[in-house]
Amino acid sequence: MLDISAQTTLASLAAREDFPILSQMVHGKPLVYLDSTATAQKPLAVLDAMDRYYRTTNANVHRGAYALSEAASTHYEDARKKVARFIHARSVREVIFTRNATEGLNLVAQTWGLANIGAGDLIVLTEMEHHSNLVPWQMLAARTGAILDFIPVTDDGLLDQAAYAQLLERSPKLVAFSLMSNVLGTITPAQTMIAQAHAAGAVVVCDGAQSVAHLPTDVRELDCDFLAFSAHKMLGPTGIGVLYGKRALLEAMPPFMGGGDMIREVHLRSFTTNELPWKFEAGTPAIAEAIGLGAAVDYLSALGMAAVADHEAALAAQMIALLSTLPAVRIIGPLSGPRGAVVSFTVADMHPHDLATLLDADGIAVRAGHHCAQPLMERFGLPATARASAYVYTNGAEIAALVAGVDRASMLFHQG
Ligand code: ALA
Repeated sequence: MLDISAQTTLASLAAREDFPILSQMVHGKPLVYLDSTATAQKPLAVLDAMDRYYRTTNANVHRGAYALSEAASTHYEDARKKVARFIHARSVREVIFTRNATEGLNLVAQTWGLANIGAGDLIVLTEMEHHSNLVPWQMLAARTGAILDFIPVTDDGLLDQAAYAQLLERSPKLVAFSLMSNVLGTITPAQTMIAQAHAAGAVVVCDGAQSVAHLPTDVRELDCDFLAFSAHKMLGPTGIGVLYGKRALLEAMPPFMGGGDMIREVHLRSFTTNELPWKFEAGTPAIAEAIGLGAAVDYLSALGMAAVADHEAALAAQMIALLSTLPAVRIIGPLSGPRGAVVSFTVADMHPHDLATLLDADGIAVRAGHHCAQPLMERFGLPATARASAYVYTNGAEIAALVAGVDRASMLFHQG
């Protein structure tokens, strides 16, 4: 049996008691939740903030001249201010609430994209994108006749920068890539890539669904034109996400969905749009969810995003070191260098779903499948991987439990 007892001392960064869900037993074993890349658990501060809103200030926003509606509007807009500060946006007008990162990316494709991309224009993506940062551009290309090309992924899970430089020589109109891969854990050298794209005349869209939850984010330093992310990956609720966009671009874009709140005036045959950010927020928004996101931002800010990144670097290093001691394990993605605490792997010829089922019997939750990145699976010649992902509440003992579980599952499978 593998001796990993010496490796279990890393404490969680966040107080475990803040996350009531983590104290439960699953199949008679303590829950080891290692699927935070799919969705993160929620601290009491987030649950309480949403509960408080429904108990004390539930009313629609931006509509009523009465105290409850004004309070709801204030809390909703305060959440926007918190998000703007968290990502260092120049203005709250650059922070649009969406349903999730996927909606943010679709919003850009269907507004900026349709207005600015034409037949023959080049859109540069990467081979490691989540379907959310592929399909909207495929749809745009199908409508406009634009051409898609891709930055290849190297065998060690990095973006091929030489190939990127060559793609930029073809003067793309748009470059879109993820700041952190949800499969490989790769952290892309975004600032350099964005500067290169701008020098080539391209607009840059970043998928921050993973990175914003796990790394400090400064959109001014990055200089990305758009950044989309989801609250539920960063301790917040489902149903709300953010699209950051540079103000001049957002001002020039046509609206996305039509309806209440996004208008200034409506006549039977015409309308004028509201000012930013409401121009892109049609209909009653996810008010409680925005307030929950604000509380999640407060929680992460109190931990400090630099500390979050350090904690996850330590967890990633531990996961890779321990999994690498198992001869049957193949890790897909960078083994060193800057990377997130999301590790994809296979165990000899065991199907990842079988592995996940055996781990579940031990109370260990990991994701198995293509992780919404089928082209990346094809790139590595795999139908699926198992994926373990950690967050602020994860500790070293849980990583050790995972590795012991993988070892046990591998022995069971190969004996059986
Ligand atoms: N994008 C989520 C994941 O990677 C759902 O699991």
